[in-house]
Amino acid sequence: METLALLGGKRCVTARPASPTWPRYSPRGVATVALMLATGRGLAQGQVVDDAAVRFAAYHGMQYALATDSGTGALLSALAGCGIAPGDEVITTPYSYGGTTGCLLHYGAVPVFADVLPVTGLLDPALVPARITPRTRAILVVHLYGQPAEMHALQAIAREYKLALIEDASQAHGARYHGQLVGTLGDAAGFSCMSTKLLAAGELGMLLTNDRDVYDRAALLGQHTGVLRRPPTARGGGLSAAYLPYVDSLGYNCRATGIDCALLLDQLPRLDGWNRTRAANRDRLTAALRDLELLDIPVYPPEIEPGYLMLTMTFHPERAGVSRETFVRALAAEGVRAFVYLDCPIPQLPRLHGPAPAAPWQAARTRATAPELPVCTALCRNAFQLSFGALTEPEPRLLRQYADAFHKVVAHLPALRALEGQRVLV
Ligand SMILES: Cc1ncc(COP(=O)(O)O)c(C=O)c1O
Repeated sequence: METLALLGGKRCVTARPASPTWPRYSPRGVATVALMLATGRGLAQGQVVDDAAVRFAAYHGMQYALATDSGTGALLSALAGCGIAPGDEVITTPYSYGGTTGCLLHYGAVPVFADVLPVTGLLDPALVPARITPRTRAILVVHLYGQPAEMHALQAIAREYKLALIEDASQAHGARYHGQLVGTLGDAAGFSCMSTKLLAAGELGMLLTNDRDVYDRAALLGQHTGVLRRPPTARGGGLSAAYLPYVDSLGYNCRATGIDCALLLDQLPRLDGWNRTRAANRDRLTAALRDLELLDIPVYPPEIEPGYLMLTMTFHPERAGVSRETFVRALAAEGVRAFVYLDCPIPQLPRLHGPAPAAPWQAARTRATAPELPVCTALCRNAFQLSFGALTEPEPRLLRQYADAFHKVVAHLPALRALEGQRVLV
């Protein structure tokens, strides 16, 4: 049996992906951006930004989209849009990219964490009602790794307790839940479209809503004066008359650039096709890994159609006798793009405790609450991810080699145990 690459053997993965670079743009998209640079036209606000918002809303079948500078900007705008005030409590997940909680803290809202489901790591709706207090105003849920969260249950809770429901769809462009696109399932949604995402457009963000008031308040927060004074259009643009007296220069600047919007316009028509291929690639790989009892891999019913930015898997170190870190290092050495995306529950991050570099959110920080988070803690210890968003072409050869790499590493667990033993002795 070939020695592990980690121990000096040959790598399993030698195939170059059929889709080698990400993000990827069509020659027409590149020419559009080149023209913008050559002429200096549309670099900041303008027609391209409006077009991107209109097309993004239309793709989702939603009334309004607001282009922002980032996913963070979209989520901040969504909080303002939903009428959240500093000091309001928002129930959210401890298992996400920090930006989900970060936007709450920066806004002055108080994050109240509820634990997540095993294997998928998505917010567990059953644990949400117990976290509701008279100060709760919203639920902020994440479609983590591209997997749609349990939205029907969360919608019912939001309705019953009169809470806003905000989706962080940053990792799940084009994912569907019971046939409905994520980002269309709450009162507002924020998307990051930065360059590693399924829609990758520089540093762009997008807010979606069907509620004109949500749109207007969101725009007022971060779009600055010139844009806001234009007449409103059917799909956004400008502000409704009731908000015009508040147009001034006191806002944030969460505005998008024209270049980023041109990149989004270039990719958007191809999103569904890319996602279908990502899903087929994912099915091919997971079918080849099902016999590995050391791994829990999510199984989705047909009505759940993730976007597959990353594949998440939970490793069982106690069964393997090897730590997750060593297992992932061995996979990575074989050429599998495996890594640990989240290794600490958000409420345990150092900046939320004790002395830390100055941040404008001290008050919200000290009021943040988290119960015991056994599932999130276990995922932070045992889960790992594969990077998948770039695999937009069929990749039979590459994924066969990925599967071979998993089987090879599992077959070599004794060598990995010996390696870990050596390290202890050294
Ligand atoms: C789940 C999630 N939320 C929020 C963000 C923040 O988005 P941005 O980096 O575009 O501000 C990200 C970005 O990586 C994310 O993955």
